[in-house]
Amino acid sequence: MHHLAQYTHTHVGSSQDAPIIVFDSGIGGLTVLREARVLMPDRHFIYVADDAGFPYGSWEEPALRERIVTLFAELIRRFHPQLCVIACNTASTLVLDDLRQAFPDTPFVGTVPAIKPAAERTHSGLVSVLATPGTVKRAYTRDLIQSFASQCHVRLVGADRLATLAEAHIRGEKIDDELVLEQITPCFIEQDGKRTDIVVLACTHYPFLANVFRRLAPWPVDWLDPAEAIARRMLSLLPEAKDKSLHHHEDLAVFTSGKPDYAIRRLLQGFGLRN
Ligand code: DGL
Repeated sequence: MHHLAQYTHTHVGSSQDAPIIVFDSGIGGLTVLREARVLMPDRHFIYVADDAGFPYGSWEEPALRERIVTLFAELIRRFHPQLCVIACNTASTLVLDDLRQAFPDTPFVGTVPAIKPAAERTHSGLVSVLATPGTVKRAYTRDLIQSFASQCHVRLVGADRLATLAEAHIRGEKIDDELVLEQITPCFIEQDGKRTDIVVLACTHYPFLANVFRRLAPWPVDWLDPAEAIARRMLSLLPEAKDKSLHHHEDLAVFTSGKPDYAIRRLLQGFGLRN
């Protein structure tokens, strides 16, 4: 893929030195990178956004599966990562198994809807999962509910606009409260004197909108963001960083469009990502 061709140097070295790829369709995975860096400040990260394919929420499954596996063949060849994090629910619920099969030497950590912790925490038994239309359609998501939340009433809410609104919000554009409210309203259920008390943020873009959600919500709920749990999972899979004095590579952002706009480039700089 020519948009990756400019990054010709690879980072093969001691495995501790090898990069960790954090992948999403857009900027949502930055919410995971942020937590990963808190736990692993010495590690070398490469943030990859398939912004040329954004949003993933509306893709047909076979085409999206093929696109992501092909992209990872290229990323693994170029960067020799020690770990890949699919910081995207829409992708993880579709291709995690395919990626593990296609690249058995590379460990993958996925981001899947936090249905199990929500089921453990809810008091009312009414839980909502706010995600892209792709994620709510997945067999993987239905299986999670069956396996871990069969005693709860789980409402799946497929929001077709929120990932794009999150991108706009983070670019500093004004977003329409009415539109956001329309997207989150189906999450709020009142039934037999009980109310939804947990909304799972099952798209990595949504934590960027958490304050807007809080402000607009018809009543307070726990907005469950799994980023910290994902970071802990990453840490558990990595060999211990023995040599803390290793030269730290500059972290890098790769956008498949090859041309993230000015606002995004500023955001990436704020995250300390060269692009
Ligand atoms: N950030 C992605 C997720 O976690 C999805 C955004 C999109 O491409 O629609 O599902």
